[in-house]
Amino acid sequence: MHTAHLLATLVTLYLGILYADGRAFSPWSRDGSFNPGNASKYKGDDLAPVYYAVGPEPTINTTVAWTASTIISLNASSTVATLDYGSEAAGIPFIYVQSLSGPAQLELRYGEQFPALQNPNGDGPWTFINGLTNTFRTETLNITTTGRVESFFVQGGQRWQSVRLLTEAPISLSAGLRLTSDHLAPAQLSGRFSASNPLYEEIFDLGGRTVQAACIDRGAAPSVWEVTSDGVRVRGQQTSQSIVGINFSNYTISFMTKVIQSGTAFRVASGVFPYGAYFVLTTQSTPYLDTNRTVLPANSLIWNYGWSMVNQSTLAVPAVHVLPLKTPIVPDTWYNIALEITSTGYNISLDGRSLAFISSEEILALLNPLWGSPTWYSGTWGFGPFQGQDAFFKDVKVIAKNGTVLYNNSMMSSDVLAEYSVLPNPNPVCMDGAKRDRLVWVGDFAHTCRVVLHSTNRLDYLRGSISQALAWASDHGPTAGFVGMDSPLGTTALSKAAYSDHLYSLFDYQDLFILALGDYYWATGDLAFIKAHWSQIGAAVDGRLTLNNPTTSLSETPDIQGIYFLGPANGSAASAVNVLALQRAASLASAVGDVASVHKWTAVAQSISTAINSLLWNPESGVYSLSTAYPDDFSLAAIAFTIRAGIANATQAAAMIQKVPQLRLGIGFKDSSMVNSTATTQLSPNTQGFLLEALFLAHRDFGTPLDSARVLLDTFWAAMVTQNQYYSGASWEYTYPDGSPGIDLFTSLSDPWGAAPTYLLSEYVLGISATKPGYTSWSMQPLVEGLGLTHASGTVPTPSGPIEANWHIVGNNATICVSAPKVSRGQIVFGGQKFAVSGGQQHCVNVAL
Ligand SMILES: *[C@@H]1O[C@H](CO)[C@@H](O)[C@H](O)[C@H]1NC(C)=O
Ligand SMILES: *[C@@H]1O[C@H](CO)[C@@H](O)[C@H](O)[C@H]1NC(C)=O
Ligand SMILES: *[C@@H]1O[C@H](CO)[C@@H](O)[C@H](O)[C@H]1NC(C)=O
Ligand SMILES: *[C@@H]1O[C@H](CO)[C@@H](O)[C@H](O)[C@H]1NC(C)=O
Ligand SMILES: *[C@@H]1O[C@H](CO)[C@@H](O)[C@H](O)[C@H]1NC(C)=O
Ligand SMILES: *[C@@H]1O[C@H](CO)[C@@H](O)[C@H](O)[C@H]1NC(C)=O
Ligand SMILES: *[C@@H]1O[C@H](CO)[C@@H](O)[C@H](O)[C@H]1NC(C)=O
Ligand SMILES: *[C@@H]1O[C@H](CO)[C@@H](O)[C@H](O)[C@H]1NC(C)=O
Ligand SMILES: *[C@@H]1O[C@H](CO)[C@@H](O)[C@H](O)[C@H]1NC(C)=O
Ligand SMILES: *[C@@H]1O[C@H](CO)[C@@H](O)[C@H](O)[C@H]1NC(C)=O
Ligand SMILES: *[C@@H]1O[C@H](CO)[C@@H](O)[C@H](O)[C@H]1NC(C)=O
Ligand SMILES: *[C@@H]1O[C@H](CO)[C@@H](O)[C@H](O)[C@H]1NC(C)=O
Repeated sequence: MHTAHLLATLVTLYLGILYADGRAFSPWSRDGSFNPGNASKYKGDDLAPVYYAVGPEPTINTTVAWTASTIISLNASSTVATLDYGSEAAGIPFIYVQSLSGPAQLELRYGEQFPALQNPNGDGPWTFINGLTNTFRTETLNITTTGRVESFFVQGGQRWQSVRLLTEAPISLSAGLRLTSDHLAPAQLSGRFSASNPLYEEIFDLGGRTVQAACIDRGAAPSVWEVTSDGVRVRGQQTSQSIVGINFSNYTISFMTKVIQSGTAFRVASGVFPYGAYFVLTTQSTPYLDTNRTVLPANSLIWNYGWSMVNQSTLAVPAVHVLPLKTPIVPDTWYNIALEITSTGYNISLDGRSLAFISSEEILALLNPLWGSPTWYSGTWGFGPFQGQDAFFKDVKVIAKNGTVLYNNSMMSSDVLAEYSVLPNPNPVCMDGAKRDRLVWVGDFAHTCRVVLHSTNRLDYLRGSISQALAWASDHGPTAGFVGMDSPLGTTALSKAAYSDHLYSLFDYQDLFILALGDYYWATGDLAFIKAHWSQIGAAVDGRLTLNNPTTSLSETPDIQGIYFLGPANGSAASAVNVLALQRAASLASAVGDVASVHKWTAVAQSISTAINSLLWNPESGVYSLSTAYPDDFSLAAIAFTIRAGIANATQAAAMIQKVPQLRLGIGFKDSSMVNSTATTQLSPNTQGFLLEALFLAHRDFGTPLDSARVLLDTFWAAMVTQNQYYSGASWEYTYPDGSPGIDLFTSLSDPWGAAPTYLLSEYVLGISATKPGYTSWSMQPLVEGLGLTHASGTVPTPSGPIEANWHIVGNNATICVSAPKVSRGQIVFGGQKFAVSGGQQHCVNVAL
């Protein structure tokens, strides 16, 4: 009831906005001309806001256009400037102070969505890992002179920023971001698409903006630590852990720390991810007027166990413990801190004086071996002062119970950067999001790779991501051959043993990675790259096969930690995606001449397909079962991958597509029939992207209806472009059924896994696909009827130049035109007819509908 009502409201709203008067689709535009992506800038350039407003509070009504001469004046009555960059941008924030009448403090706040500016922490902090950005989305600048002031940290992605004057005296300034990624208008990218329904062009454009912010050049995320001859200087940020101590236990750690401002912090008994016992020391005073003394009381030892001192949506932490310091710590003074892990708890001392004892009982209940260490007395250590703090660390010593020195590091050599995972990113890579986590996830890469191929065409990011995943491959044990699932940004594969518990734990991400490899090769024809990595690729494919049950052929739960992301073990989705990966792998094997693997993988794919049909097809319900254990449940991923792998025949595909509406929830579809329908159920653009391809494919090959595909485009993806308060110009991680971001402020609104329509509109609606590697041969099979379009046009980058294509409906005919590089040949396919097309000039065919 609730959902249906909501939906009716939304549909009315969208229709009202969508077809207002046929002009460019920009629902929040002031005069119809606002184009959020128009201001093209390259990495290294300064990006100015597009619009701004000045007032007592942040406002979404940023009505004034920013020009080259804009100077903002803030004073005691107009304290806040709201800056709107128009769409997702990544960079190092700067303020240019034009004039000031006394020392000033400015609080800068960032958000992908507007409501973040109304939250004290913006849309942060990012507590899951140190992603070589500012952990915090609120930072304070101390302004003493005119001129340019830059933040120390990158802010990985935002559309919105506020600048709040915390002091009384007026100040005038301008502001912007020094870009760490290109910020090009979608129209300037190599891959383009437009159509008679401007909504579809807006949805296509999400992908190009997303991969511009979420893919970064080598070194574009600079180190967040500064190595000096007096130790490392670490400004307020999430702790980063040493990889050396991951297996240490029952040790005493001691180190020297000197506060530059506000306090210092460290972690012990942690996983390599920042999950463990966390200690923050505060000084009497802080330079910042906006320091929250509830979170950071003065003169205290504050401790917690888990991710952070503050709750962040899905990363909850217990209430913090605060112990007053009997003797204050003061800035610019070196202190020795020691923590001994005893048989009953942690003994903490400062310059030899006991500071606190924390009993193991207080921690036992909070262990989380998935991210942290398995016991309270084992695990590594890390350093990272809290928000607004800044401190040095040196002379770190770790001593075993028997007196053996396990670790001794002056922290004065740049080697510490790799050891603590805070190197400038060593590879050009695509991350899972612009602002947050910033891990190189290989599952997401199944989408990311194709989005890049159809938008920026930055192949260096694809090769860099693939190389990094392969470098992080498992080299022993039951996961041998598996590629690194989520390798971090700031270190090299020499660190992989320390991360290994996490690196191979979503088994079907191996398959999704192989799909991306196939797509990379098919689009580029880059056989040299595939050959250079062939032994590792083969090992990854063969490694994954060890998870298949020798009797049933289905993907089962092995005796190692991990799960299938797309569905349960012995299930349709996990097994079907493996079939699709094996088909791709066999075609790669054929290209490199590995005949044995072609035969093996083709045969295995065939036997899994047969097994899925005999063990998992449910003829009564007309859909593949979720798994052998859940015969009457079904999922989007199983429907998507059984169709894509050709496991489902025409009848089965048609039956399954009829089932999709049963998973309808609010603006989209929930992942499976096992998922409850609530107002906070997360709808996944990732899974629905896989589904959308299957819907297009089945329509093309079997003539199945497009109703659910239209729901996905017109209602689900529309939510990412029609709501000004959430709009980032990029694709999202999750939504709620009502169309708002699905992890509240934490949601990544620049997540490549949410951008499938970018490649699907190009491949299926414009209809261009390679029929030989590198598009030396290609086909154009457009989707002319069924989406309510009258024309579409676009450009697909290929190694020998762009393919430009368009189609128009004229009366009862369609005119289909394409021009492709001279060296290529192709064909237009329509209504059972095929028209051969040679490259080098435009060809049009006129066909009756
Ligand atoms: C938008 O881009 C077009 C094409 O590059 C340019 O001609 C136009 O001046 C730009 N408009 C604005 C407002 O920057
Ligand atoms: C923004 O402007 C609109 C129309 O001018 C007004 O209805 C709305 O209340 C304003 N919103 C805010 C947050 O100021
Ligand atoms: C404060 O700034 C606002 C906006 O810039 C301006 O309109 C107002 O006159 C200023 N007030 C004072 C007292 O300077
Ligand atoms: C901030 O500026 C004031 C001068 O107003 C100065 O006394 C103080 O040391 C500065 N603090 C920092 C952290 O730069
Ligand atoms: C300070 O932090 C507390 C605890 O998180 C929070 O409830 C409060 O709203 C914060 N105050 C401000 C002014 O941000
Ligand atoms: C986080 O939220 C939980 C549940 O509401 C609460 O018990 C806990 O105290 C919160 N932690 C912090 C640090 O505020
Ligand atoms: C470490 O200490 C714990 C708790 O006292 C004890 O159970 C464990 O055996 C010790 N481990 C080693 C390797 O000494
Ligand atoms: C002392 O303890 C460490 C760590 O547990 C161990 O590696 C080392 O072999 C021990 N040394 C002696 C002499 O027992
Ligand atoms: C830690 O111990 C585990 C299990 O013995 C081992 O597999 C892993 O390689 C070790 N990690 C490091 C960083 O030494
Ligand atoms: C499709 O598969 C189903 C289930 O195996 C089978 O009953 C049906 O005959 C097949 N249809 C076609 C057209 O092959
Ligand atoms: C779905 O809701 C039911 C009833 O509230 C609950 O028992 C079950 O655990 C929920 N399932 C999931 C997957 O959340
Ligand atoms: C439609 O196409 C047919 C040939 O396919 C052609 O004879 C006819 O003139 C076309 N009509 C229009 C309106 O273009």
